[in-house]
Amino acid sequence: MESKDNNLPVNLSEFEPLAQAILPKPAFDHLSGGADDEGTLRENLAAFQRIQLVPRVMRDVTRCDPSTTVLGQPLTMPVVLGPVACHRLFHPEGEFAVARAAAQAGLVLAVSTGSSYSLEEVAASSPGPRWFQLYAYEDRGVTRGLVERAEAAGYQAICLTVDSPVSGRRERDLRNGFIRPKPFLYKTLVDVGFTDLSPDLDEEQLLAFAGKSLAVALTWDYLDWLRSLTRLPFLLKGILNQQDALMAASRGIEGVVVSNHGGRQLDGTPASIDVLQGIAEAVDGRSEVLVDSGVRRGTDVLKALALGARAVLIGRPYIWGLAVNGQAGVTQVLELLREEFRIAMGLTGCVNVSDVSKELIFRRRDVL
Ligand code: FNR
Repeated sequence: MESKDNNLPVNLSEFEPLAQAILPKPAFDHLSGGADDEGTLRENLAAFQRIQLVPRVMRDVTRCDPSTTVLGQPLTMPVVLGPVACHRLFHPEGEFAVARAAAQAGLVLAVSTGSSYSLEEVAASSPGPRWFQLYAYEDRGVTRGLVERAEAAGYQAICLTVDSPVSGRRERDLRNGFIRPKPFLYKTLVDVGFTDLSPDLDEEQLLAFAGKSLAVALTWDYLDWLRSLTRLPFLLKGILNQQDALMAASRGIEGVVVSNHGGRQLDGTPASIDVLQGIAEAVDGRSEVLVDSGVRRGTDVLKALALGARAVLIGRPYIWGLAVNGQAGVTQVLELLREEFRIAMGLTGCVNVSDVSKELIFRRRDVL
């Protein structure tokens, strides 16, 4: 094993206090916080701890291969950089640094509608592969523009976030009076397609405008319309209920992301990892199932795969890396996760990701 500089984090979570030391408190709190009592936020981490692994041994794991495909796209490991708005809150190079690190690592970045650079600017900053995370707008012209622009700019899927018909109440942000700085808010709205927005609006007015423009009846009919606009595959991000997953699968939606938005939307939901297996079994291969919220370890990735996920998304951890060390910091986070996942594969007797199965999962209630 390579020797480590004493100051370098040896796991993902060790990046968090380093990011905290660098970021202004409101930005760090915005990144870390969840909704209401943050019960779901805590549960996301606790749930992974409760799940245990029973390894298989006596297998030749001298050549573990963590690579996979998601929606036909080759990935060097089953990890996607999930959509996080406004990376420039955390580092001046923002999405450019993250996109370069993701491309170098052979991983997909899901670029947020709330990105601090336009989708075309991110696309031009480095080679892909990339997905576009879509927040649907009430103005169908704007929404249509985003979908068509994403396809034209080479994005490979539309990741439609469905768990945010209204924004969760993030009390850390309320206490800090946190609002994204005006230049970021304004640029994002213009980039989204509100090109005649007055530059004289202040932060509060821009925020109110953004909130109002996102008040859309995002229903299955709206989704049918969205799908008619593009040949790109769709993922629905923010599914927790089996019925919704079944609706998606029966409509031929290519992927669902089991997610509680990192505990930032509805507080009091189960951890995503705890509802994953039920959803994966209900969907039964008709859609690809991904999961996020609380993935911090290579063993978490393995647990998610064993419970039926094709891949995981990570959010906060790569932003900690970005804050601490720009592109290199994101790379460090991704390579630590890769090393841990390789070790987890080796120690559970898995040579390929297809060897990761639910026989590796042990839950304490199994023995009660
Ligand atoms: C997010 N997330 C998010 N999701 C989305 O669909 N669109 C977005 O613009 C954002 N923005 C965003 C900002 C910040 C600061 C955070 C922390 C998260 C949610 C994100 O995609 C993902 O679901 C969670 O972050 C996953 O949980 P972990 O990995 O952060 O625990």
